[in-house]
Amino acid sequence: MSQIHYLFHPNLAQQNLENYFDPAYWKRQNKILGSATGRGVTWFLATEQQVKCNSALRHYYRGGLFGKLIKDHFLFTGLNQCRSIKEFQLLQQLKQKGLPVPTPIAARVKRTLLCYQADILIELIENGRDLVAILQEKILSDDIWRQIGKLIRQLHDQQVFHSDLNAHNILLQSLDNQQYKLWLLDFDKCDFRQGDEWKAANLQRLYRSFQKEIHRYQIQFTPQNWQTLLQGYHSH
Ligand SMILES: Nc1ncnc2c1ncn2[C@@H]1O[C@H](COP(=O)(O)OP(=O)(O)O)[C@@H](O)[C@H]1O
Ligand SMILES: [Mg+2]
Repeated sequence: MSQIHYLFHPNLAQQNLENYFDPAYWKRQNKILGSATGRGVTWFLATEQQVKCNSALRHYYRGGLFGKLIKDHFLFTGLNQCRSIKEFQLLQQLKQKGLPVPTPIAARVKRTLLCYQADILIELIENGRDLVAILQEKILSDDIWRQIGKLIRQLHDQQVFHSDLNAHNILLQSLDNQQYKLWLLDFDKCDFRQGDEWKAANLQRLYRSFQKEIHRYQIQFTPQNWQTLLQGYHSH
């Protein structure tokens, strides 16, 4: 026996909801715009007709050793504890607080008695590339490094702990006439946290991520860039 639960944005037509979460369905319609491979595959979908924007579809996977055995099943401890539902709700709250995060479109939980699988559909940030992709090709201006620092500060000022704050989860979107906008992604397992003690460690995690990508992807990142980011972080 399995049960399916959905949460969705009011804009979403509510028929055939299961199709929204089925990459094969979008493939048949020739509506796959691209994909990114991390732990799993994030599909970029042409959904403008259905939801007024294109979207990114992600299935939730486990990490670690356990994840190799049970790839995408999680212990069910209540609907509001499910990963996709929590990320959907957090994104909605962050959006309301004015943070630059994609709008959540729909979340799905497929459950049996003990376990569940989860998926989420969110707004696709058009013409956006993550910092790793960009820094492989070019350096970023001091102004952008400062803006990145300010962005993390904005998140921390709202008491949001980002459990996977890294260079892949910060997106730079090109707008018209040389303008750009920064976005934060990937709020799986993120939460509101009290106090300030965790903030420095959260920043440090981002620093380690940049360091790691120097070796892995030869990104352009210097100690000076980090200092400029910190300047932005501490600038108000
Ligand atoms: N809403 C989005 N708009 C544009 N690009 C996205 C979006 N969501 C994800 N991406 C791209 O796909 C990559 C992987 O997505 P992410 O949600 O971080 O999944 P994971 O890290 O679990 O693989 C991101 O680093 C980013 O480059
Ligand atoms: Mg990510």
